Amino acid sequence: MRELGDVIPVPAEVRPDPAATFTIHSGTAICTPTESVGLLLAEVLRSATGHPVPVSPTAGAIVLQLEDVDGGPEAYVVDVARDLLTVRANTEAGLFSAVQTLRQLVPVSGTGDVTVPGGRIADRPRFAYRGVMLDVARHFFTVDEVKSYLDVITQFKINHLHLHLTDDQGWRLEIAGWPRLTEVGGGPGTGVDGAGPGFYTREEYADLVAYAAQRYVTIVPEIDMPGHTNAAQVAYPELTCDGVPVAPRTDTEVGYSSLCVGLDRTYEFLEDVIREVAALTPGPFLHIGGDEAQATSAEDYRTFMDRVLPLVTKYGKRAVGWHEMASVELPGDAVPQFWRVETADEGTARAVTRGNQVIMSPADRVYLDMKYAEDSRLGLDWAGRIDVERSYRWDPAARLPGVGEEALLGVEAPLWSETLRSMADVQTMTFPRLPAIAEIGWSPRGARDWESFRHRLAAFGPRWTAQGIAFHPSPEIDWL
Ligand code: ACM
Repeated sequence: MRELGDVIPVPAEVRPDPAATFTIHSGTAICTPTESVGLLLAEVLRSATGHPVPVSPTAGAIVLQLEDVDGGPEAYVVDVARDLLTVRANTEAGLFSAVQTLRQLVPVSGTGDVTVPGGRIADRPRFAYRGVMLDVARHFFTVDEVKSYLDVITQFKINHLHLHLTDDQGWRLEIAGWPRLTEVGGGPGTGVDGAGPGFYTREEYADLVAYAAQRYVTIVPEIDMPGHTNAAQVAYPELTCDGVPVAPRTDTEVGYSSLCVGLDRTYEFLEDVIREVAALTPGPFLHIGGDEAQATSAEDYRTFMDRVLPLVTKYGKRAVGWHEMASVELPGDAVPQFWRVETADEGTARAVTRGNQVIMSPADRVYLDMKYAEDSRLGLDWAGRIDVERSYRWDPAARLPGVGEEALLGVEAPLWSETLRSMADVQTMTFPRLPAIAEIGWSPRGARDWESFRHRLAAFGPRWTAQGIAFHPSPEIDWL
C-alpha cells in the first residue's frame, strides 16, 4: 500500500491516520450528485480492482460532494476512514483534482480488493494556471492523439493546454473565408522535414475543446504573429508587402518571416482569424505569439501590436503572448509568457508594475523539447540539457527581478516538435519532467523537496509502463 502523501504534485496538507485504511471491495459504490466526476473515479477504481464500482446519487461508501472548502475553485479535501471515503470540493474541478490524487493511491490495473491509506488530505493549488504547450504546427498531432495526451497530463493536475497552431511550416486550424490556410498550410509536406499533412477542421477543434473541458482543462489557442507566419504567406501571397509568393519552408530556422505591418489587408486577415478563433474557444485566453520577430523592425512591431491587441479585446479574450510582447504597453488583462534563458527581463517587469500577470516558462528549466542529456535521441539543446533535477530545483517567483509570487498567473511547460515524430516521442520528452513542473505549479513552495520528489517519482515507472506511456528512464531516479 502507498502512503497517503505519496502523490505528485505533493498535497498542501497531509495527515495520515494509519489506523483507518479504507478497502475497496466488490460491494463498494460511489455516491455523488456529480455524475461526470463520479464516473471518472469509477473508471479508475474499476481498473484498479476489477470490481463493478457503481455510481449512485443516493448510496455508497465513497462520497463525492460539492461543499465549501478552503482554498479556491480547485481545492479539495479527502477524508479516508475505515468505512467511509469522502471527497469535498467547491467545484467539479476540485472534485476532479481529488480524483487524480486518489488515482495515484491505487494500482493502474489489477483484480481484487485494494486498500487506501487512512487520514486527511487538504489540498489546493499554488497557481491558477498550470499549463503544457504542444507544437502541432511543426509536427501535426491528430485530435485523438491530443486527447490521449490530455488524459495523461491531467493526472498531474495540469489545467491548461496551449496549442501552438501556426508557424512558418504549417497552419493547423481551419478559418472560415481563408480556406487556403489549411488546404495549403495543412497539406502534404508542411511539417519539419516534409512531415504532414494535417489540420483541425472547426468541428474537430470544437470536439477537442469540449473533451478538454470535460477534464477541466482550458485550451489556449496560439496564432503566432507577426513572425512565424511563412505558412500563411505561402497560402496567401497578398499577405506579403510586395505580393510576391514566398516558398514553403520545412527547415527549423526562425526569425525570417513577418506579416506586412503597413498593409490594411493584414488586419482584415487577422480580424477574421481572431474573431473565428475566439468564437471557437470558450476559454478566456487567445495567444498571439509575438516571439522572435527579428524580421519586423521595433517600430513596426509596436505599430502591429497596437493594432492587434485591441482586436483580441474586441472579441472578448485576454491576450497571451511570448514576453517580447511586453515591449509595448499592454492592456491590463494581457499576459506575457516569459520563455528565455535570461534571468531578468525589463519588459516583463514593467508590465508587472502596470498590473499584468505573467506565465513563467524559462526555456532552461521547463522546455520539454530540450535534451535530457548529451546522448538524448530527441530534442534540441540551445537552452541547455535539462534533467529532472534541473526541471525541479528552481522557483518561478524567484526567477525574474520584479516578477514575484503575486504577479504570477502560473507556470507552463512548452513542447516544441522539431524533432518529434510520434506520440511516443511526445511522451518520452514529457515524462518524467512534467511531474516536476506540475509540482512547482501546484504545491506550496515549502512542501517541495528534491529527495522526496525523487522517491515519489520512482513509483511512476511501472505505472507508466502499465498505462502504455513512454518515458525517459532518467538515471537520477531509482525507478521501482
Ligand atoms: C519560443 O520558444 N520561440 C517562444
